[in-house]
Amino acid sequence: MSEQSSQAMSLPARYYTDPDYYRTELEWFFFGRWIHAGRADEVPNRGDYVLREVGEESVILVRGERGELSAFYNVCRHRGTRLCESASGRFASTIACPYHAWTYQLDGCLVGAPHMDGVAGFRAEDYPLHRVAVAVWDGHVFLNLGEDPGPLAEQLDGLDQRLRPWGMDQLRLGRRIVYDIAANWKLLIHNYSECLHCPAVHPALQKLSHYLSSENDPAGLGSLGGRMRLRPGIDTLSLDGRRRRACLPGLGPDDCRYVYYYAVLPNLLLSLHPDYVMVHTLWPRGVDRTEIVCEWLFHAEAVAAADFDPEDAVAFWDMTNRQDWHVCEQMQLGLRSRAYRPGPYSLREDLLHGFDRLILEHERRALPNRPEPPCSS
Ligand code: FES
Ligand SMILES: [Fe+2]
Repeated sequence: MSEQSSQAMSLPARYYTDPDYYRTELEWFFFGRWIHAGRADEVPNRGDYVLREVGEESVILVRGERGELSAFYNVCRHRGTRLCESASGRFASTIACPYHAWTYQLDGCLVGAPHMDGVAGFRAEDYPLHRVAVAVWDGHVFLNLGEDPGPLAEQLDGLDQRLRPWGMDQLRLGRRIVYDIAANWKLLIHNYSECLHCPAVHPALQKLSHYLSSENDPAGLGSLGGRMRLRPGIDTLSLDGRRRRACLPGLGPDDCRYVYYYAVLPNLLLSLHPDYVMVHTLWPRGVDRTEIVCEWLFHAEAVAAADFDPEDAVAFWDMTNRQDWHVCEQMQLGLRSRAYRPGPYSLREDLLHGFDRLILEHERRALPNRPEPPCSS
């Protein structure tokens, strides 16, 4: 547990309820960072693509001719029409605009522009698709919509090294559930970053892992998290605490006694169990709405087994997820009240306070003349 001021207070309501604040926050906190966008094996073959919506932007993530991943704004260079409407699919060999048939290669180069012959000064090479930066860490794909993104590793606070034993590049999708939650995305990060609510909200989880067993790392600039111990006799987080598959091969006996939880800011929650990894990807859809894609990943060999069944992990966490989403939605409603005032954090809510300070720091840099709120101690 890191040191923090006893005066640490939660943030004023506007950080969770004001649509104008939300739009600026997306700009400075999301568009300036690497954003988690799913798993690389979701587009396994040449031409496969998925769309990702970030704020009002739509991005095409596509597997190119040589197997490389590229991302482009879903915006035609002719007059701006969206190129693609389907959330996923496969391009035959090119990306064609549905409006006037400007056509692009999978690397974004413009190769067809009907009726532009004879237009003085027009050169196709001047109009490639606008590129979005892509990086991959152990099978996790990240996008960066910033002007001059730094390396992804700088944002990971060393987690790329620390989490190597889980061998996430060897994991494959077992199950995906998409949730639509009526709460601000930061409340979901907060909810993930403390377990004081576990006895009241998650009685089943509390039986498997004691809520006071958490050991948090100090809040970082790119991640928040730590680990919680499994109770004696409990092998993993499943409905009955039994583990139905081998521990992930890179883990030592000590790591198998814990579940590690990391929020990789801004929108990835990684929950690393002895035998599987659960991934939440948060997509803000409004100041009071967040879509979460939850994926359960298992070792490739486990997924390939004839009797593979992820239901023990899925059922446990689907129940637990829904309990969390419900309290977050109740909190969103409470924050809208005229009676709401910031309240004091406990010493076990240090990660939440660290996250709030990061949000305030970004706001301060973006809007240097704004007075500090009383909770920024
Ligand atoms: S807007 Fe795309 S071809 Fe005209
Ligand atoms: Fe929870």
